[in-house]
Amino acid sequence: MREEPLVKMVNISKSFGGLKALDGVNFEVYRGEVLGLVGDNGAGKSTLIKILTGAYLPDEGEIFIEGKGVHFREPRDAEKLGIAAIYQDLALVPTLDAPANMFLGRELKKLILGRVIRLLDRTRMLQETREVLRQRLHMEISDLSRPVHVLSGGQQQAIAIARALHARAKILIMDEPTSALGAEGREELFRLINQLKAEGVSIIIISHNLVHIFAVSERIIILRNGRRVGDRITSESDRKEIVHLIVGGEDVK
Ligand SMILES: Nc1ncnc2c1ncn2[C@@H]1O[C@H](COP(=O)(O)OP(=O)(O)OP(=O)(O)O)[C@@H](O)[C@H]1O
Ligand SMILES: [Mg+2]
Repeated sequence: MREEPLVKMVNISKSFGGLKALDGVNFEVYRGEVLGLVGDNGAGKSTLIKILTGAYLPDEGEIFIEGKGVHFREPRDAEKLGIAAIYQDLALVPTLDAPANMFLGRELKKLILGRVIRLLDRTRMLQETREVLRQRLHMEISDLSRPVHVLSGGQQQAIAIARALHARAKILIMDEPTSALGAEGREELFRLINQLKAEGVSIIIISHNLVHIFAVSERIIILRNGRRVGDRITSESDRKEIVHLIVGGEDVK
């Protein structure tokens, strides 16, 4: 029997006005697993993960983290339990450098003259940023004090991931992370994903690109019109079957 899932979402429903975006969806993620979440435009993927990150409240359903029932009222609640999300725009501030982005909202301060003046501890922030990038992601970025918009897409992804790791993420959710990346950035991202997986971090990756999903995921969950219509072990499936599940049709169970 499989171990207890790290995340278990049970019978989740969510409507926007008259539109049922999610209809009784079950969803589970295991420790250290890379899970692909796929479905057509409007299938409900982003809505499901926004519920998991506390950005939306479900109308119905329950969420269990490591077996314990939780109620997220806001993203901070989910963050505290180690759930982090990286969106397509990465949520980095382009004009700030890597350390400032990594510590955004959690800046390190130092006390000067007793405690009269509190200053940002730039040196420590820079060191810690370099350390997380180097030790956990095996990435070197020269001159971390440049604004992040001059860095490559792959390097920016790494900083967004470093930020999540530094906040002790156990589950990293990536909604369309490859769409803004070139071929090299994509390879780099896949390498980072494998690195995180080796550390036991669970990853949920949402993408329309099934080549990418097949390259990194071990399991794939398919949504269609707000319902879960499939759950496949990646190595036992193929793109044709997944496409079939995404668009609907007969004879695939
Ligand atoms: N805040 C909202 N207000 C109203 N309707 C919404 C809202 N968020 C999502 N929806 C609707 O819910 C449905 C599911 O949307 P969702 O964003 O979850 O789809 P998705 O699978 O992520 O699609 P895509 O692949 O295009 O990103 C869509 O019909 C969408 O228009
Ligand atoms: Mg979406």
